[in-house]
Amino acid sequence: MSVTAVVGSQWGDEAKGKIVDLLSKDARIVARYNGGDNAGHTVVNEYGTFKLRLTPNGFSNPRTACVIGPGVVLNLSTLGQELAYIQEQGIDLTGRVWISPRCHVVMPYHPMLEAIYENAKGASRTGTTRRGMGPVYADKVSYNGIRLYDLEDPDVFAEKLRIQLAVKNRIFAAFEVDPLDFDHVFQEKLDQYRAMRPFVREPFGLLQQTLQSGEMIVLEGAQGTFLDTDWGTYPFSTASTTIAGGSAAGLGIAPRWISRVIGVAKAYTTRVGAGPMPTELHDEAGQTLREQGEEFGTVTGRARRCGWFDAALVGFSAQLSGFSEIALSKLDVLDSLSKLKICTGYRQPEQNNDDASLLAYWQGDARWLETCQPVYIEMDGWMQPTTSLRKFSDLPANAQAYVRKIEELVGVPVSMVSVGPARDEIIFKD
Ligand code: GDP
Ligand code: IMO
Ligand code: MG
Repeated sequence: MSVTAVVGSQWGDEAKGKIVDLLSKDARIVARYNGGDNAGHTVVNEYGTFKLRLTPNGFSNPRTACVIGPGVVLNLSTLGQELAYIQEQGIDLTGRVWISPRCHVVMPYHPMLEAIYENAKGASRTGTTRRGMGPVYADKVSYNGIRLYDLEDPDVFAEKLRIQLAVKNRIFAAFEVDPLDFDHVFQEKLDQYRAMRPFVREPFGLLQQTLQSGEMIVLEGAQGTFLDTDWGTYPFSTASTTIAGGSAAGLGIAPRWISRVIGVAKAYTTRVGAGPMPTELHDEAGQTLREQGEEFGTVTGRARRCGWFDAALVGFSAQLSGFSEIALSKLDVLDSLSKLKICTGYRQPEQNNDDASLLAYWQGDARWLETCQPVYIEMDGWMQPTTSLRKFSDLPANAQAYVRKIEELVGVPVSMVSVGPARDEIIFKD
């Protein structure tokens, strides 16, 4: 059994792309199981810097198949551009990409509907990436979706599109938004589909065969635990299952095959978009994290909100997804801070919780979390550069202590410490 799931343990952008790229050297398959082009996964390797939204991060390795499972929703324009860009960099993808025909397609009306909802909510909006995720998953579960299977038969596609446009254009009229033209959408989507047609084939058989052979499969989670539809800070969340369990449904891999779950955690916390974030900083330390960590969204360019590491959150993620280990990323971003804080749990102002009765994330919803106050421990920083270091024992003593404290509070060993964006800027611990 050699299936490794790589899961975001915070609010996304934990450096999952880098960790998956690193693991893909030994992988027969890298597979995406959730989300769409709301994801932005950065890889810095010998071929250059890639910021990919849909293509699984095994593309650099000629032995690795890149699989997109039925749990992923596809913006065909984004995917087509990515596949073309990768091939322009001299990477041969022939025969290496498998896109499930069960995948639902993001249609032009999905981001438009999302904009109507976000605008209607005003100040209470989610702050989405505006890639149409909520509406495309809503159409999927309400039997209104259009799948790649439908695009294979133009008559079936035409019938489904006509029905959807009849409904959606009436909504647009009500909100004084220009209607979509059937012929234009029909032709555009068919052309995009046909361009990637050689890659569209159900990967289930390949996955089952590879499971039997025991070769390594890496599951590349998108987003992070606290954006999960059920367990995240709903409605400040995304529309898919982001936790390790999502991979079973999103790809068709039975849970018993997954033997290793790597929770990727930033050495501090970031979030893009609205919603509660107990350890958010509005001071100079927050500014340092944003500048040193270059914390600007990969998809939207928005400044990410930054704060201290929240061990209460990551500990919950570890339980939810069953982390066997943690890949701690961006430790180098803390190099210049003299004091560091780690959140160990929450307190409600009127309840006066002592250290033995701290509150946990799962005890309430997003509105409740907004009213919680973080309880911190403080540690000394190390005030030395770490990017060039490759052995755990070479890290400054205070950096080692910080990593060990995270292990202790989260209850999971740290197996990798990332100290820079490049593939080799990594420390394997123990
Ligand atoms: P993902 O969505 O989880 O794949 O993460 P993103 O790619 O959206 O964001 C992570 C960002 O941090 C990218 O710009 C990476 O190049 C960068 N990065 C990854 N690991 C490290 C690290 O250890 N140190 C620093 N300074 N940057 C890193
Ligand atoms: P990766 O895979 C960070 C956030 C959005 C917004 C909320 C809902 O790169 O870690 P959506 O467009 O999904 O409906 O937006 O989720 N969000 C992400 N934040 N990283 C991501 O992906 C994200 N994908 C969605 O900012 O708050
Ligand atoms: Mg990202």
